[in-house]
Amino acid sequence: MCGIVGYIGPADAKHILLDGLRKLEYRGYDSAGLAIQQAGELAIRKRQGKIDRLAGELDLAPVEGMVGIGHTRWATHGAPSDDNAHPHVDCAGRMAVVHNGIIENYLALRESLEGRGHQFRSETDTEVFAHLIESHYAGDLYAAVVAALREVVGSYALVVMSLDAPDTLIAARQHSPLILGHGEQEQFIASDVPAVLAYTRKVTYLQNGEVAVLNRDGVRITRLDGTEVSRDISIVAWDAAAAEKGGYKHFMLKEINEQPTALEETLRGRISEDGAQITLPGLKLSPAQLSAISRVLIIACGTAYHAGLVGKYAIEQLARLPVEIDVASELRYRDPIIDEGTLAIVISQSGETADTQAGLHEARDKGAHVLAVTNVVGSSVDRDADSVLYTYAGPEIAVASTKAYTTQLMVMYLTALYLAQERGTMPDEARIQLIDAVRRIPSQTQTILEGQEAIHSLADRFDEIHSSLFLGRGVNFPTALEGALKLKEISYIHAEGYAAGEMKHGPIALITPQCPTVAVAVPGGVYDKMLSNIKEVKARAGHVIAVGAEGDGELHKYADDVIRIPRTVELFTPVLAAVPLQLLAYYCADNLGMDIDQPRNLAKSVTVE
Ligand code: AGP
Repeated sequence: MCGIVGYIGPADAKHILLDGLRKLEYRGYDSAGLAIQQAGELAIRKRQGKIDRLAGELDLAPVEGMVGIGHTRWATHGAPSDDNAHPHVDCAGRMAVVHNGIIENYLALRESLEGRGHQFRSETDTEVFAHLIESHYAGDLYAAVVAALREVVGSYALVVMSLDAPDTLIAARQHSPLILGHGEQEQFIASDVPAVLAYTRKVTYLQNGEVAVLNRDGVRITRLDGTEVSRDISIVAWDAAAAEKGGYKHFMLKEINEQPTALEETLRGRISEDGAQITLPGLKLSPAQLSAISRVLIIACGTAYHAGLVGKYAIEQLARLPVEIDVASELRYRDPIIDEGTLAIVISQSGETADTQAGLHEARDKGAHVLAVTNVVGSSVDRDADSVLYTYAGPEIAVASTKAYTTQLMVMYLTALYLAQERGTMPDEARIQLIDAVRRIPSQTQTILEGQEAIHSLADRFDEIHSSLFLGRGVNFPTALEGALKLKEISYIHAEGYAAGEMKHGPIALITPQCPTVAVAVPGGVYDKMLSNIKEVKARAGHVIAVGAEGDGELHKYADDVIRIPRTVELFTPVLAAVPLQLLAYYCADNLGMDIDQPRNLAKSVTVE
């Protein structure tokens, strides 16, 4: 996700744009830029790096003007660089655009435009908008923008400025947020409220499929077919700090609630229209290379490691490939057996974890094809890998990983399905059914979030405890590990994730009423075994909170509390089961007044050994 700001009015646009971009830096910070109309020209300043670098550039080369657009980037297509920074301009340099979102069909559009003589300067999908609008422009900027939008498939929050319509900004929204701010003889556009709060609290939330035409004295909103839309103006009650968190108390809670969107964005463009095929252009393996893979090795740390454990189940089950997985800090020192037949999957949200980088280099140097799964375009892991699949979760600010984890799981499922598809290890019908189930995960996640208050009240049970046990089996053994990690790292309550079948080999000695157990017991091959484990805990006066499926009529007979998740294929339940465990950890830590976004002793990215 990126940050967008636009301004038209009597004031100096530069200061308003820079101030707004700084308020949106949490949405992306690998590069920034702005375009301002100055004396009949488009003055463009853009730089890789933080907004302060752009501000320094403006000190050296000032720009004066009252109409402008700005952008702070979180790269999705094209590594962070000066050329890939927004704004992007058309061939004539008379029109500039800034964009947040993903254009799924940008390659086809770019080829067509280049075939008509358009010269591209960047690797981004966004630049396609500039040339597409230019190709449609015949004197009416609004009409050209609408014509371009009709050709685009994907998500966008788009703002367009042109010297041929000097007193106008045009904004359009599809799946990526965009708000309009209304002042006295001045109008604002922004990705989020914090960017405009210093100037106005009167905002309009643009909806999907709408186009806004702004000039100094007002705004006109239409749909793509030109029909006018009247939308009420809202008054924002938040202060700036609360607005940065979208009104949530902590970034972690905001990011937990962003998961449906993050999952949707991570799926976008990777499933064919007919729902039958997975396409992963980021995995650069020929059919011959895919057939030559003899084993998979997954390398990661912490939460990413837990995602890798789920990936192991998915790839072995669907693609019938043996999968080994190791924490990077162990792998790098055990001289692992790796060769040209190994596909090494390196998972890292930040792409900068030192141990994970070392594991990547170990695998690469021994001949593996390295596939990186990362949330940060242009990160070290991205740069050093042979292939890369991004999780389009947007910046994850809280130290405790949530939306990055569930989008990593989604990429693992897509990879397993793709390997199965290309290696012919499962019938088409079975694959299509699984793809259909995957496509429902984002909305099912939303369903869980809509019932989060029930989990809030459950958290109160953890107020007085100092230790807890998380149990799972099969593909939800990693879920138990992840749930325990979430609780311990933000509440400082000791929590241990365990394979439920291991209870009798030790952990059962821990069970007391003061050591609650969380058990993941969803329908599937190990459900009955999980019921038995729950009974074992209850027989020792332990308190059990179970995570189970909607409509399960058994669980409540044995568990003290049941958190229900929508039904899906057992293999995909870790995505849904993770959400209540994230919320349980969050509300426990909030009850205890912890520093949830920045827990003691922890860093968001562990760049040292
Ligand atoms: C997860 O909540 C933790 N913050 C931590 O375990 C994290 O997953 C780990 O440090 C790996 O980080 P990475 O994904 O950026 O490599």
